[in-house]
Amino acid sequence: MRDNLTPREIVSELDKYIIGQSDAKRMVAIAMRNRWRRNRIEPVLRDEIAPKNILMIGPTGVGKTEIARRLATLSGSPFSKVEATKFTEVGYVGRDVESMIRDLMEIGVNLVRNEEMERVKVRAEKSAEERLLDLLLPPSPSRFAAGEAIAMPAAGSDASMGGGDPGSTREKLRMLWRKGELDERRVKMEVTMASPTMEIMAMPGMEEIGSQFKDMFSKAFPQKKKTRDLRVKDAYDILLQEESDRLVDMDKVTEQAKERVEQSGIIFIDELDKICGKQGGSGVDVSREGVQRDLLPVVEGCVVNTKYGMVKTDHILFIAAGAFHLSKPSDLVPELQGRFPLRVELSALDKKDFYRILTEPKNALTVQYRALLETEGVTVEFTDGALLEVAAFAQRINEETENIGARRLYTIMEKILSDLSFEASDKSGQKVIVDEAYVREQLSDVAEDRDLSRYIL
Ligand SMILES: Nc1ncnc2c1ncn2[C@@H]1O[C@H](COP(=O)(O)OP(=O)(O)OP(=O)(O)O)[C@@H](O)[C@H]1O
Ligand SMILES: [Mg+2]
Repeated sequence: MRDNLTPREIVSELDKYIIGQSDAKRMVAIAMRNRWRRNRIEPVLRDEIAPKNILMIGPTGVGKTEIARRLATLSGSPFSKVEATKFTEVGYVGRDVESMIRDLMEIGVNLVRNEEMERVKVRAEKSAEERLLDLLLPPSPSRFAAGEAIAMPAAGSDASMGGGDPGSTREKLRMLWRKGELDERRVKMEVTMASPTMEIMAMPGMEEIGSQFKDMFSKAFPQKKKTRDLRVKDAYDILLQEESDRLVDMDKVTEQAKERVEQSGIIFIDELDKICGKQGGSGVDVSREGVQRDLLPVVEGCVVNTKYGMVKTDHILFIAAGAFHLSKPSDLVPELQGRFPLRVELSALDKKDFYRILTEPKNALTVQYRALLETEGVTVEFTDGALLEVAAFAQRINEETENIGARRLYTIMEKILSDLSFEASDKSGQKVIVDEAYVREQLSDVAEDRDLSRYIL
């Protein structure tokens, strides 16, 4: 989670998960770095520099969405991924395109709030612990009378060991609690009940309004309190939450989040090709074109009203992706084409790529299967020959039936390992070597029968 990664570093992070597609990686890396560069320019010029939106074009299953997903975890910036097909034209029932800005703002607020929570964590934990001890051992009034400070200030003296008189009951309790010995004990505590549940009729597309209403009502009604009997551990979690909420200034969070969203937000619009109707189409296409037109102002820069206030979209970076095999980018309404000046094509994957995808990424399928079977005490090993065979087979099936890219590997691997997955529980302690012959054997039925492979793989 760093926003100061250089393009080279971004690419090498992406390389850990995505094979090939270096052009696309370079382009998103540059776009991300440009946000960082822009932020160090004097304000007057900074406002003039608009992000260059990217359009990723490529067949299905070659890593478009994967790149976006990995980018999301890499960048400390608010990032959201939406499917263009989820939206409907303004005026029709459904989600309007502006909701993606509201979602991004929501993400931004969560991001900043979590950072703030992290910052106040130590303080929150300390006061939650004190409150817990107050519950377990209510401070006696006589101590007040004697002018003895209740444990609160004492705790400040030595946070790690707990201050105060180590012999006192309170300190003994503290030690027990820290050792986890009180976790299962029960304690009575006053908890705030969720505000009167008001089910606003959730009409499709109206969720937004619904949640705004709920927010309003929860502020208008006094919150109800109720005494509940809780496990000490759960009580502590509630106290910690309350203390964190108390220490985090939500107004500041909102303000910062807005700044972050406006200046460094990234929205990934997937499946853009699916809202691109061929010319002269029927009614459905008209509505799709409507979505495209609604997208224009958002991508170009406008102001969207969210529950956290107005958000300007001028500097939000948009990355769109689509397979574009039934339609072409030129089928998009012309204005929208112009909003995505950077185009990058992702290449189809072949068996060399498949082999690498099976072995290199940190989350490679072979790694996943090995870990899964490990839990049963079964050690699997894949020989190179086996994986080359899988890769070659994947390419062949992709050519013969439909090209679904790397997704083909999932179906093939699942087929190869299905017997083993079923029997693994009985094979604890064994070592299984998956070699070329094993792969051939498992795939023999589908390899011979093309029609069968259509169904199974
Ligand atoms: N180049 C690649 N390197 C590693 N894994 C890949 C690559 N391409 C695809 N994959 C794997 O295949 C799966 C599908 O890829 P992804 O979701 O990125 O496809 P896509 O290009 O978005 O396709 P679609 O057009 O259908 O949305 C991913 O889960 C990913 O693990
Ligand atoms: Mg995708």
